Amino acid sequence: MKKDKIGFIGGGQMAEALIKGMMAAKLYTPADIYLIEPNSIRREHMESKYGLQCLDSHEKFCDLCDIILLAVKPQVMGHVIEAAKPYVTNAHIIISIAAGLPIKFYETSLGSNGYKIIRVMPNTPALVLEGTSAISCNDNVTDEELAIAECIFNAVGISVLLDETYLDAATGLSGSGPAYVFSFIEALIDAGIKVGLTRHIAETMAVQTVLGSARLMQKEKKHPAVLRSMVTSPGGTSIAAHHFLEKKGFGGIVMDAVEIAVNRSKELGKM
Ligand SMILES: NC(=O)c1ccc[n+]([C@@H]2O[C@H](COP(=O)([O-])OP(=O)(O)OC[C@H]3O[C@@H](n4cnc5c(N)ncnc54)[C@H](OP(=O)(O)O)[C@@H]3O)[C@@H](O)[C@H]2O)c1
Repeated sequence: MKKDKIGFIGGGQMAEALIKGMMAAKLYTPADIYLIEPNSIRREHMESKYGLQCLDSHEKFCDLCDIILLAVKPQVMGHVIEAAKPYVTNAHIIISIAAGLPIKFYETSLGSNGYKIIRVMPNTPALVLEGTSAISCNDNVTDEELAIAECIFNAVGISVLLDETYLDAATGLSGSGPAYVFSFIEALIDAGIKVGLTRHIAETMAVQTVLGSARLMQKEKKHPAVLRSMVTSPGGTSIAAHHFLEKKGFGGIVMDAVEIAVNRSKELGKM
């Protein structure tokens, strides 16, 4: 399921990931995709690599596109809305991936609550089509339109539909989640080096261990404690290390970290 034409405002990293995924999933062809991007290097890259049509005029852009996907940093979103506002209509589906900005921000900036607004929190693994996106929308969006957004974000990974009140929770878990996972991988690598492995070997083993464990859990659909108990044999190495992590409060530290990120997301949303 798709809408005829989609336009991106902002052609940075996340826009590129989405465009790559949408084209790989054959949701859209280059002829269906428009872009407004002031950075000439990015514009030329997106034109030459994906054959997109770049435009300067917001009027023409809004006229041509059914879906407007806002992929700029939150700091410039106000300017972007101001420029597009005269040409945006209630028929457009407006999708924003900007972190922290609530649906109310778009309704207020556009000056009416009659617009169809979809707010999405993706994460960086979308760059390798393994993203996790949380999607919420206002009451003007129909089920069919929401399904279109799901198709777009499923093209770069998986998506979950959430009430907007849970978007801060999603930001703390999956939006910021890659940062925690990278910290964990970095620590595993350092630990490998500390016990005598080369950096290259330690990196290869750490990345594959995290990837393989995640895949195992996804495939087996078992509780992580059950999978962990498969590794922790009586009197063995894993139970000794697990005991140490428990004593140091590893689980509590991760839970606190997520909660701190959620609270920070709430604070940023109010600013
Ligand atoms: N990357 C992530 O992990 C991630 C995760 C979740 C959500 N997000 C959200 O996704 C959005 C985009 O992030 P990103 O990482 O793709 O950022 P990015 O790589 O910096 O891309 C944003 C692009 O928008 C361009 N731009 C600036 N002002 C513009 C304007 N007025 N009109 C049109 N384009 C304009 C920028 O050009 P210049 O470089 O010249 O400024 C840049 O090429 C952000 O709101 C971010 O919060 C990102």
